[in-house]
Amino acid sequence: MRIFSGIQPTGRKHLGNYIGAIRQYVEGQTRGESIYCVVDLHATTVPYEPATLRKLLYDTTAILLAAGVDPDKCILFRQSDVPQHSELCWLLCSVTSHGELTRMHQFKDKSAKQKDALISAGLFLYPVLMAADILLYKTDEVPVGDDQRQHVELTRNIAERFNERFGETLVVPKHRIPEVGARIMDLQSPEQKMSTSSTNENGTVYVLEEPKAILKKVKSAVTDSGTEIKIADDKPGISNLLEIMAAIQGKKPADVEKDFAGQRYGDLKVAVAEAVVQYLAPVRERYNELRPDEKRIEEALATGAAKARAIAQRTLEEVWDKMGVGAPRMTRT
Ligand code: TRP
Repeated sequence: MRIFSGIQPTGRKHLGNYIGAIRQYVEGQTRGESIYCVVDLHATTVPYEPATLRKLLYDTTAILLAAGVDPDKCILFRQSDVPQHSELCWLLCSVTSHGELTRMHQFKDKSAKQKDALISAGLFLYPVLMAADILLYKTDEVPVGDDQRQHVELTRNIAERFNERFGETLVVPKHRIPEVGARIMDLQSPEQKMSTSSTNENGTVYVLEEPKAILKKVKSAVTDSGTEIKIADDKPGISNLLEIMAAIQGKKPADVEKDFAGQRYGDLKVAVAEAVVQYLAPVRERYNELRPDEKRIEEALATGAAKARAIAQRTLEEVWDKMGVGAPRMTRT
């Protein structure tokens, strides 16, 4: 079974990213052949600083390594080191409709946020590049957070359309969204997803944050009216804290609800705050050890890229043959 996922080099990963995606990467290493890619090409689709992109790529790679992604157990690489991604993206554009790209939530949200800045064609094509990432590796399973559901669905459509048009070639992948913790909400506005671009910094807990700051943020999470600790639609704040606790403890939210029966909101907040601190502390410590050694990070990425290129090139050549582009296979060296 092959597992593939991509992660944006934004550096500042939060608790939602960690629980929803990153920890699934680690778990995937024991379930199948896993391939993880830091997607620097995707990062160029919104305004960014060239000088900071490389730094953020190291930050993100170091977070993955610190979390337990192990280059000896998986293939970990940087997207731009494998040029086959860009090429397959272009070829897949021919089986992607303009209409479906205009319906992508992430495109609509991100283009709305650009205000006066350029809404790039890259932002529009972003989902096709993501489909190329996944399809190049004949991926069976894509571990992602809930927000990427629609992109994986599009990837499936693209693969099916390709196979219908050009003959059975690409594997139609499935998403793997965790049952607990796929949607961690903002601590200050629990009707919104936890995000790096939230207006209130106190609503987002970062993976690399100091324990003191984490304690403060979780303890000041907004709660709901009433006093009972219960999962309910009209208790988004309490439900979110129970969900976080459940994800950390590997329990069902309903069981955590039982654990806290009869206790007060304040007790829950303190318990969750301490659990989050303990959960993230080892990652932050390992990160601080690993991050300074950029040469070692670069070496790990280079090893991964060599392995990824070999797989990617095979798929790309199959696609050329099916699509009738490039020189005929017999004449290729
Ligand atoms: N779009 C994903 C995100 O924003 C990142 C990504 C790029 C990805 N390529 C991928 C995720 C391939 C899974 C598979 O989180």
